[in-house]
Amino acid sequence: MNNQLINKYNIPGPRYTSYPTVPYWDNDSFSTNQWKETLLKSFNESNEKEGISVYIHLPFCDSLCTFCACHKHITVQHSVEDNYIETVLKEWDLYLDLLEYKPIIKELHLGGGTPTFFSPKNLKRLLESIFNKAIIADKPEFSLEGHPNNTTREHMRTLYDLGFRRISFGVQDYDPKVQKAINRIQPYENVKNVTETAREIGYESISHDLVFGLPFHTLDAMKDTIQKTKTLNPDRIALYSYAHVPWVKGVGQRGFKDSDLPKPEVKRELYETGKEMLEEMGYVEIGMDHFSLKDDKLYQAAIHKKMHRNFMGYSSSNTQVMIGLGMSAISDSWYSFAQNPKTVKEYTEIVNRGEIPVVKGHILNEEDLVIRRHILNLMCNLETNIDDRTLNYIDLDNTKERLEEMANDGLLEWHDNKLIVTEKGRLFVRNICMTFDLKMLRNKPETRIFSMTV
Ligand SMILES: C[S@@+](CC[C@H](N)C(=O)[O-])C[C@H]1O[C@@H](n2cnc3c(N)ncnc32)[C@H](O)[C@@H]1O
Ligand code: SF4
Repeated sequence: MNNQLINKYNIPGPRYTSYPTVPYWDNDSFSTNQWKETLLKSFNESNEKEGISVYIHLPFCDSLCTFCACHKHITVQHSVEDNYIETVLKEWDLYLDLLEYKPIIKELHLGGGTPTFFSPKNLKRLLESIFNKAIIADKPEFSLEGHPNNTTREHMRTLYDLGFRRISFGVQDYDPKVQKAINRIQPYENVKNVTETAREIGYESISHDLVFGLPFHTLDAMKDTIQKTKTLNPDRIALYSYAHVPWVKGVGQRGFKDSDLPKPEVKRELYETGKEMLEEMGYVEIGMDHFSLKDDKLYQAAIHKKMHRNFMGYSSSNTQVMIGLGMSAISDSWYSFAQNPKTVKEYTEIVNRGEIPVVKGHILNEEDLVIRRHILNLMCNLETNIDDRTLNYIDLDNTKERLEEMANDGLLEWHDNKLIVTEKGRLFVRNICMTFDLKMLRNKPETRIFSMTV
């Protein structure tokens, strides 16, 4: 990869798990009542047709990985589990009171934090209580994030029996020096053990999260990690670029110095090497950051242009409504976003007052909906059609000028009104999306709020 291109395009930018991105939500014009109204409208439009998704955020972790940008709560007190589950169930009841009929659950994801911090018995209680008050769709898609150091056979068996068929494990990197720097000692044996057990139980899609560009990360470490990954043959691999966001309060990323991080050119080389090796092993790159074997559902969704992107990353199915339960969880009604408080304490207090605990959000206007569609097209399908509706909103001369420059740099091509991202441009898809991001173009952030695009 040309270093000049990296220098040119490596700027702070969103990862576009939503549009508008969270820092650009118009929280001042948002209210819980509007959230309820838009959710209800969307639910009534779509529940019968396609069901809903439920995301449950389980925030606790036994120890802090110092690179982690997730919303988590570190504790060794497992007594927190009971209270937290009670609160999530109360929140679910608040939603059920609002909805006019029983939700059909099509998708459910347990994210974190570390869902496998909770005992299998408690996870069973939580899920059975949720399912008892809903209808489970045909062929539901239930998935979870497991930590290789604490996911047990019993966890995986219990969840499999409840319908879970997809599991992702946080691997990050196998290099001992990297693991020490990020305070996450996790031997290959642990990953091997959980991966093989998941397969033996019958999980249909097993995914490994890898991160490149971590402190002290070298090309040799990357090659070794990919080799080890190959021996376990996961169906999907997320190859995330390390998002260095030390200015976000409480992310705990100050355990190493900025100078311990690989330079952008090295970071890019790490990615290129990882990608090349994965492709040689039969993985296909999908959207941004993701690789999958050809028999995995995500690959099928990608080639049929059915992939969707949301706060959890890419998914092979899509519902108009996603209800997020738990501390910091984000809900999406298509017409609006809403987020719960980022501390367990505040989350619990609001739910205990009998209120749906959303504290910020955004109601999408016509323009937002049009731009959102383009950004989803680009992030998922690497192409989008500029139609007449778009022209009403975008100052196309301005956007076209930027896009023309990217076309000259070989990052995209025009086929009539269709913009297609090239293989070279795939690395810069966030930059391409940024040319459509009217919210950001109108109001550039005054301080660093996004990680670098490369
Ligand atoms: C909630 S964790 C996964 C489950 C479990 N807590 C674990 O660590 O195994 C979600 C994933 O986000 C990714 N992640 C977290 N912080 C990141 C960062 N700063 N940059 C890039 N990826 C990050 C990691 O790959 C991590 O496995
Ligand atoms: S990477 Fe996973 S285990 Fe580590 S702090 Fe983040 S959420 Fe917790």
